[in-house]
Amino acid sequence: MKKSIKEILAAKPIGQEVTVCGWVRTFRSNQFIAVSDGSCMQTMQVVVDHENTDPALLKRITTGSAVIATGTLIESMGKGQAVEVKARTIEVVGDADPDKYLLQPKKHSMEFLRDIAHMRIRTNTFGAVMRIRHALAYAIHHFFHERGFFYFHSPIITGSDAEGAGEMFKVTTLSLENTQKNKEGDVDFKKDFFGKATNLTVSGQLEAELAALALSRVYTFGPTFRAENSNTTRHLAEFWMIEPEVAFFDLKDNMDLAESMLKYVIAFALEHCADDIQFLKERQEQEESTKPQQERSTMDLITKLHFVVDNEFQRLKYEEAIQILINSTPNKKGKFQYPIEGWGTDLQSEHERYLVEKHFQKPVILTNYPKEIKAFYMRVDDDGRTVSAMDILFPSIGEIVGGSQREERLDVLTQRMEEMHIPLHEMDWYLDTRRFGTCPHAGFGLGFERLVLFVTGMTNIRDVIPFPRTPGNAEF
Ligand code: 4AD
Ligand code: MG
Repeated sequence: MKKSIKEILAAKPIGQEVTVCGWVRTFRSNQFIAVSDGSCMQTMQVVVDHENTDPALLKRITTGSAVIATGTLIESMGKGQAVEVKARTIEVVGDADPDKYLLQPKKHSMEFLRDIAHMRIRTNTFGAVMRIRHALAYAIHHFFHERGFFYFHSPIITGSDAEGAGEMFKVTTLSLENTQKNKEGDVDFKKDFFGKATNLTVSGQLEAELAALALSRVYTFGPTFRAENSNTTRHLAEFWMIEPEVAFFDLKDNMDLAESMLKYVIAFALEHCADDIQFLKERQEQEESTKPQQERSTMDLITKLHFVVDNEFQRLKYEEAIQILINSTPNKKGKFQYPIEGWGTDLQSEHERYLVEKHFQKPVILTNYPKEIKAFYMRVDDDGRTVSAMDILFPSIGEIVGGSQREERLDVLTQRMEEMHIPLHEMDWYLDTRRFGTCPHAGFGLGFERLVLFVTGMTNIRDVIPFPRTPGNAEF
C-alpha cells in the first residue's frame, strides 16, 4: 500500500523516495504544489523540477486536480512545512476544470457547501469533522469492547412501531398510485413485501433488551430514522445512535456507564485528533469574534472538552431542577418561551440549556422525571409518580443522552402500556422478556451526531454528517 501523507509526515524518511497521491489545494509561483490526501490536516508540498517537467503538464495542475508525485523527501527551506517532496515525476491523473471547480482556496459558507457534496468533503473543515467522527466511532467500539460488551445489530426495517420515540418512515413496495384496500377499506398490507406494515427503526432499544437478557452486556450502533418536522440545528431525520443495554443494571450503574463513556471518547478525540481539534478551535474563535460580546462563549473548544473530561457531571432529580427553574431569573422575568408552571412540565431545550450553561456550568444528568412525560418502558419509582429516567444535558447541545432503568415487572409494564394505549398483542415478543427470566436492566441512547457536534464545536448538526437528511432535504 502506498504511504499516506500522514504516514510520510510521521516517519519523515529524509533522503528517500516517496510517492504522494492526492488532490491539489494550491499551486503557487508555478513551483509549489500543496497536495492533500485527506489523511490529516496537513498538505504535502511538492516542488516542481522544471527541467524534467513538460510545461503543458503544469497547466493541468489546478486546484482540485488529482496528482501522483514521486521524488525525494527533503527538509524544507520554506516556512509552513518541515519537509517537502522534490519531484522527479508528476502525473495528473484527473483534471479539474478551473472555471467549473467550485471550491476555490477561500472560505465558503457551510450552507453553500451542503449543496456540493463531493467537494464539501475536501474542505479543511469537513476533513477535520470526518476524521473526528471516525475517531469517535472507533473509540465507542473500543470502550465497549474493552468492557465485555457485544456489538448487537438491531434491525433497520422494523415490524414494530410501538417504541413511540417519534414519527416513523413507512417502508413499502405497494404501489402508491392504486393501493389495494382490504374489506375494511384500509390499505391491505398483507399484499405488501413483508405481509405486514413496516417502518424504518426509530431506535434499536427494544431489540437490544432481548439481547441484554441473553448476553448481559450489549450495545447497538446504527442508523435511526425519525420523520419529525423538527427544523433545528440539533435534529436530523436520519441519525446514528449508540444504545447500550445491560442486564442487572440500575439507574446509578447506567449513569456511571454513560458518564465514563462520554469522558472516554472525548478524551480519545483530544488525544488522537489534536491537529483537527486545534483547527476547529481556531475556526470557532474566528466565528465567535463576529458575534456580539455577550453572546460569545466563555470557553474555547479545547478548554470546553477538557472541562467535560475532568469534571464530575452534576446529577440531580427532575424535581430539584424544576425548583431551580421556577426560581430562575429568566422564568421570573418571563424570558422563557415556555414558562415553567410547576411539577409535570416537560423541559424544553431553553430550560436544559439554562441548567447546564447558566446554573451549573457543567454537564448535568437529570433523573426521575414524571412518568407522564416519559416512555412506557421506564421503571416506575416507588413513589408511583416518577420513572427511573436519565437525560444527560451538555452545554450548547442540550440533550445528548436519553435512557432509563427498564420496567422489568410484567404487571406494572402491561398496566403502563394499557394506560398509554400501546397495543399489547403486537408487543408479545417484547413482553416475553418479562415472562421468562426477567431481571433489572438499564440502558441509554447516545445521539452520535450530537456527540460529534459537541466535540467539533460546529454549530449545525447538518455539518457533522456527510449526507444530512432533514425535512425537505434528501439530496445525493
Ligand atoms: O431520547 P431518545 O429518543 O431515546 C431513545 O430513543 C431511547 N430508545 C434510547 C435508549 O434508552 N436506548 O434518543 C436518544 C438520543 C437523544 O438523547 C439524542 O442525543 C439523539 O438520540 N436524538 C437525535 N439526534 C439527532 N436528531 C434527532 N432527530 C434525534 N432524536 C434523538
Ligand atoms: Mg430523549
